[in-house]
Amino acid sequence: MTSVLGSPGCKHWRRARSAHVGRPQPVYAVVEASDARRPELRRQLLEMWVDVTNSGGAVGFTAPADVSAVASTLDAALDRVAAGTDLLGILRQNGSAVGMAFLVDGGSALRRHWRTILRLMVRPEIQGRGAGRLLIEGLHRTAAGLGLEQLMLTTRDGTGVEAFYERFGYIIVGRHPRAIRLAPGDDRDELILIFRL
Ligand SMILES: CC(C)(COP(=O)(O)OP(=O)(O)OC[C@H]1O[C@@H](n2cnc3c(N)ncnc32)[C@H](O)[C@@H]1OP(=O)(O)O)[C@@H](O)C(=O)NCCC(=O)NCCS
Repeated sequence: MTSVLGSPGCKHWRRARSAHVGRPQPVYAVVEASDARRPELRRQLLEMWVDVTNSGGAVGFTAPADVSAVASTLDAALDRVAAGTDLLGILRQNGSAVGMAFLVDGGSALRRHWRTILRLMVRPEIQGRGAGRLLIEGLHRTAAGLGLEQLMLTTRDGTGVEAFYERFGYIIVGRHPRAIRLAPGDDRDELILIFRL
């Protein structure tokens, strides 16, 4: 996978300024469409998504993660990357994906100037060390390279994660009341955030 996702196959990359001595620094990369269905990459992304969910991350599922449901959602997302519709940005460390996010195209000719960020996450054991910053700054460079003018994303109210995005200039522009049903009788609002490139 190193050769697949290393510099020859990557459009963008950047070394992290990590304070964590002894570990190689995560590197941001955009996965080529032709690499999106590589089994090893899929395995690492699935493991990450499950581990992030089980450690309390709000990325589309609740803990304990239903691995087959996560896998189905991941496969559909990777199909869109393989088709060239969406882009997948990852952080790679020691040859493994340790962070990811999709830049999703809305499919409308009237909405070509912005995309949605989906499934932004970094592996639990490296959270809080600057990896999230590397990932989102990498996505911003990718989005700027595409000529986009805005990025949109949603967060689950009550997680506090909107404060992460606000640090990078995102603003909350809306709230969808009770959009997320975690369980019967446990509805959460969804916050809508916008970033202007
Ligand atoms: C959200 C997430 C990607 C942040 O990644 P991270 O590697 O922990 O973030 P970083 O260490 O790069 O933090 C960058 C800055 O954001 C701040 N920050 C990080 N998480 C934050 C949070 N939940 N609330 C407020 N600020 C936060 C950090 O303090 C840091 O600020 P600083 O630059 O002033 O020091 C990560 O916590 C994660 O994967 N969470 C689980 C998945 C998830 O819920 N994703 C959101 C889907 S909408």
